Amino acid sequence: VLMREIIGIHKVEQQLSECLGIAETIIVPGDSDKMPLIKDEIGKACARRLEALLVEKNTITVTGGTTMGSVANALMEINVEGKEMIFVPARGGVGGKVSDQANSICAVMADNTGGTHRVMYVPDEVSDELRTILLKEPSINNTLTLIRSADIVLHGIGEAMKMAERRNTDEESMNKIIKRHAVGEAFGYYFDSDGNIVHKVSTIGLQLEDLPHFKYIIAAAGGKSKATAIKSYMKNAPRSTVLVTDEGAAKEILKGE
Ligand code: BG6
Repeated sequence: VLMREIIGIHKVEQQLSECLGIAETIIVPGDSDKMPLIKDEIGKACARRLEALLVEKNTITVTGGTTMGSVANALMEINVEGKEMIFVPARGGVGGKVSDQANSICAVMADNTGGTHRVMYVPDEVSDELRTILLKEPSINNTLTLIRSADIVLHGIGEAMKMAERRNTDEESMNKIIKRHAVGEAFGYYFDSDGNIVHKVSTIGLQLEDLPHFKYIIAAAGGKSKATAIKSYMKNAPRSTVLVTDEGAAKEILKGE
């Protein structure tokens, strides 16, 4: 029975990769919407996938969110012997819990792997004016250079409205997000169901156009409720992206096909 289940899930993984137009998908059983523990399983699967990519020196850039938080905890279980690990937040701080910020997540990741981390203590959303000034700041500029030189990107994907609320988005942007039917969010970009960018937070961190330059990109997001968000983001995501998700999201995505 177990063998058949394993073969079954591999088939679904292949189908899902094809459907989303990406290199690889890893699906953990269950639905994290219904059972929060499944998010930890996504974390573990993501950590194992990362482990397989590691070389002697690894610079890894990471976004925030609860899923990345689970990945951070799971990194305790991987083998990093003889490996140098540097974690860099891909973004500044978003609203919500401190533990969900990219800065905190990188700190936990470094702790759990005996590595080091950088911090980026700037708000995620800044005015264009402040952005120009901040970019001249050496410490920020160094971090940005390090982000761009990273080998691996680890990131979450969120539902548009949930993320807009978490970010305490102003009324004007909120109206834009609603009016233009944003369903998904990643890296501060909001996508409609066709994958068009309908809104973008002006940020200091990683920009979407930087993405194709990275060697490896792993996205971790699960739960039936995130199906539309995952689909919308993947419409234009780099083909090399590896998605780590759960059955809840996978089934819902494939249902619509
Ligand atoms: C955020 C990322 O912090 O986490 C977002 O910057 C992402 O791009 C979000 O959408 C996902 O959060 P969660 O808690 O659903 O994993």
